[in-house]
Amino acid sequence: ASEPLVLGIETSCDETGIGIVRGRTLLSNTIASSMDEHARYGGVVPEVAARAHLEALQPSIEAALTESGVALTDVDAVAVTSGPGLAGALMVGVGAAKALAVSLDRPLYAVNHLVGHIAADILDAGAPPLEYPTVALLVSGGHTSLLLVRDLTTDVELLGETMDDAAGEAFDKVARLLGLPYPGGPEIDRAAAVGDPNAIPFPRGLSRASDMAKHRYDFSFSGLKTAVARWIELRQAAGETIPVADVAASFREAVVDVLVTKALAACRDHDVPRLLLGGGVIANKRLRDVAIERADAAGVTVRIPPLSLCTDNGAMIAALASELIMSGRPPSTLAFGADSTLPV
Ligand code: KG4
Ligand code: ZN
Repeated sequence: ASEPLVLGIETSCDETGIGIVRGRTLLSNTIASSMDEHARYGGVVPEVAARAHLEALQPSIEAALTESGVALTDVDAVAVTSGPGLAGALMVGVGAAKALAVSLDRPLYAVNHLVGHIAADILDAGAPPLEYPTVALLVSGGHTSLLLVRDLTTDVELLGETMDDAAGEAFDKVARLLGLPYPGGPEIDRAAAVGDPNAIPFPRGLSRASDMAKHRYDFSFSGLKTAVARWIELRQAAGETIPVADVAASFREAVVDVLVTKALAACRDHDVPRLLLGGGVIANKRLRDVAIERADAAGVTVRIPPLSLCTDNGAMIAALASELIMSGRPPSTLAFGADSTLPV
């Protein structure tokens, strides 16, 4: 078929995502999140996420079929995230996808989660087609990666990634230090709205000249988190009240600054005037604003898919498999497993 009907399964972190696409057209995108169950732990608990996927998969598949008006037997191919992500969480999706593909007697496509995030852009019906090459910055609770995309199906290069915490994870941890609930991103955002982003000069990880030589496109947020913790501790020890808004705004500025600076450095170095943003942290308006403003000044065009396609979802996984099918790529054999560190 020239326009394959693909069902995609995404279970790499805490979202059970089922997406159905036909060619490049989005038919349904259902997401069940176990975020509430992780809230009391202040972060995603792998075992809890895996169990939640097991419970959510069947009803999510049914909901996606209903939403799209598609019969399961009409599906041409099954796609699944095989990595990177949480091993136990990935295994649940991979097992379900294999079972589905075998029982339907349809081809199965194992795809990379990060490349899937890039493929999400294809489903943005309002945007002109994605042009190559493009630099992609993917920021979520589980990853912070900078990629050079020369072709979605054949040539995606990882330029750099976080050496420790993901950007979203840093938001979650700093929120906790400030006594704000999980997930921390939206909470920090809210608190920062009335704060001064220049109040406290928090460190920009891996940004010194010596770091830029070796880790030009890599990120580090654990030092920033520690700096915030130290700053708060010192004030508390002195009996001072913590200016939550200023800490939140200054922390957010440090994260945004380093993300945008490194993404635009990648654009400049590779002479690529296009930057694609993805991942749940893109919900941060300050990040979007600073990226657009500084990209504009550098002659770089920024693309941001709708947020429902930026956060982890199954539609992006189906979209990538659909591209692979249309480009003539053979399906995966059933021999693959979940690979928590799968390279792009
Ligand atoms: O892609 P995503 O929905 O899923 C996972 O990573 O699993 O990203 C979730 C992450 C969380 O760490 C959350 O705190 C962060 O994205 N996040 C934000 C904002 N909204 C969500 N971070 C900064 N600012 C936001 N407005
Ligand atoms: Zn993701």
